[in-house]
Amino acid sequence: MQQKGIILAGGAGTRLDPLTRVACKQLLPIYDKPMIYYPLATLMLGGIREILIISTPKDLPQIEEILGDGSQLGIRIEYAEQAKPEGIAQAFLIAEEFLAGSGATLILGDNIFYGKLDFFRRAIEGVNQDGGACVFGYHVRDPERFGVVEFDKDGKVLSIEEKPAEPKSSYAVPGLYVYDGSVVARTKALEPSARGELEITDLNNAYLSDGELKVELLGRGIAWLDTGTPGSLLEAGHYIATIERQQSYKVACLEEVAFNMGFIDLAQLEELIGETRNPYNKEYLEMVRDEQVGH
Ligand code: TTP
Repeated sequence: MQQKGIILAGGAGTRLDPLTRVACKQLLPIYDKPMIYYPLATLMLGGIREILIISTPKDLPQIEEILGDGSQLGIRIEYAEQAKPEGIAQAFLIAEEFLAGSGATLILGDNIFYGKLDFFRRAIEGVNQDGGACVFGYHVRDPERFGVVEFDKDGKVLSIEEKPAEPKSSYAVPGLYVYDGSVVARTKALEPSARGELEITDLNNAYLSDGELKVELLGRGIAWLDTGTPGSLLEAGHYIATIERQQSYKVACLEEVAFNMGFIDLAQLEELIGETRNPYNKEYLEMVRDEQVGH
């Protein structure tokens, strides 16, 4: 069955307070576009066209106002509320009806991936073919802030530990997870953690203990940025600005991604160009149309 996508874009955003006191965290700017464009583009580049966006009751209407039902991008976007931030894995309980038994790729609304996304497409293909789950390992300076992968001396994954005081490796698990159709049932079997959340790490360990979890290590060619603190928000903006200004290609331009993925045709792209208010973005999309940028 086709993988469906979930963007989890709720949360309290306390580390970005007061920025997030009124504004939605996932709509804060990363250089020239709202944060949520980046995870949405990632899902689309993975070939996923049916996407559920989960956010807080306060933020959901704003996100919906920006992205609509997705038809303009040749995709289908649905929306669901998470009343309280009771854990990342809770997304699968909220998404049960939307998923209707299909596999699910979850991406966090504040995670940015940049680089060749073959690793992601391979993971989706692998889970579609063989079932189970696939998550990634990314070398970081401060693993104690994340779920951390523990390996034995042969590189076999032993466990994933959530925010360990003494990390057993430098490999953190980024906020991009690919699961088969058993994800909802497995989530239902989880107990909330000491902090009262349904932990994504517990879900991953449930797959692992059944021998059904693949952990693929990402090399240096991939950038993974999370944007949850003022410093990392600023750095992510600079990173995207640097790439866009040097290459003159945009990162996570949704219209371009939709066109390049064949989700919309030339006539639909023309329509989007006509509706684009920002003259610079209009010019960019005209270049995409004329040069088939990125092809
Ligand atoms: P976090 O960065 O852990 O949490 P947060 O965004 O609430 O920020 P803070 O810690 O500063 O209060 O969450 C990672 C992402 O997951 C983020 O995009 C919010 C989202 N999230 C939810 O939508 N619901 C949840 O229940 C949790 C735990 C996270």
